[in-house]
Amino acid sequence: MNNTIQKVTVIGAGTMGNGIAHVFAMSGFEVTLVDISKDALERALDIIAKNLTRMVKKEKITAEDQEKTLNSIKTETSLSDAVQSADLVVEAATENVDLKLKIFKDIDANAPGNAILATNTSSISITKIAAATKRPGQVIGMHFFNPVPVMKLVEVIRGLETTDTVTQSIMQLAEKVGKVPVEVNDFPGFISNRVLMPMINEAIYSLYEGVAGVAEIDTVMQLGMAHPMGPLHLADFIGLDVCMYIMKVLETGLGNPKYAPCPLLVKMVDAGKLGVKSGEGFYDYSQGVKQKRVSALFSK
Ligand code: CAA
Repeated sequence: MNNTIQKVTVIGAGTMGNGIAHVFAMSGFEVTLVDISKDALERALDIIAKNLTRMVKKEKITAEDQEKTLNSIKTETSLSDAVQSADLVVEAATENVDLKLKIFKDIDANAPGNAILATNTSSISITKIAAATKRPGQVIGMHFFNPVPVMKLVEVIRGLETTDTVTQSIMQLAEKVGKVPVEVNDFPGFISNRVLMPMINEAIYSLYEGVAGVAEIDTVMQLGMAHPMGPLHLADFIGLDVCMYIMKVLETGLGNPKYAPCPLLVKMVDAGKLGVKSGEGFYDYSQGVKQKRVSALFSK
């Protein structure tokens, strides 16, 4: 087993992937960021540079740290080349079962035999992903939270066959990158989304049933429960398609209709209103800032 993790390959240059690359590089690891799209890789490096500049301005890191961090991130469009000498691979590709199973087969075929293969999935079974490889004992969930450079938690998810040694390595590694790891077992939604998503879904039901408007629901949770964002704003931030998908995973995986996504959530996804990324969700982001939507549906 690999106890000296130094080379980390991150698969997927989206929001989570670039955040994960950022934190590993900032902690002195050699990072290779992989994506099939060159544009996505360029965008990711830009975002990492911007987020590091923000940290320099706040005097959390020096300009020298920023340069060192950026210099330790390589980019690559070929997955097989990128994992060839990796000690750890962290997959943060799109949340799609078939895609992830294919990626893990490819990683398994090309990464060194002692490499640990982690996935940042927020809802897909670690056990199922592990079964696509010939090393299920070395496959584990390493679930980061958005924005990755800011959020302290890493949910470490053990698949059915994940070994104690691999779990310990990943728990220690999460601490090395400045995070707080929490170990959980592999069940639908793990802990984070099993608890968070039904709350978001219930907030959407409250809107759907006319109990209160968007701003009122969010204010209750922000000021009454000290949540940094209200649940509807958070749903927009996560992506309404992702929220709906995770509710369906809970509904099917736990076999209980109480987890069915609210019809309003389904309708919004059908309409392409996905939250921040589409410019409109429970709020309007088309002007680059969060604004109330002018609609009877959203303000009771
Ligand atoms: N990179 C680096 N730093 C960042 C950053 C980024 N991408 N985004 C924000 N920051 C820093 C800011 O510089 C600021 O730093 P200081 O405290 O030193 O001033 C701090 O974070 C707070 O940022 P802002 O002042 O801009 O804004 P804010 O106070 O409104 O906080 C927030 C923004 C951190 C996003 C906060 O609203 C929050 O914590 N929201 C909840 C986020 C959450 O729940 N995330 C989990 C989503 S679920 C998920 O990811 C997984 C899943 O499976 C669905």
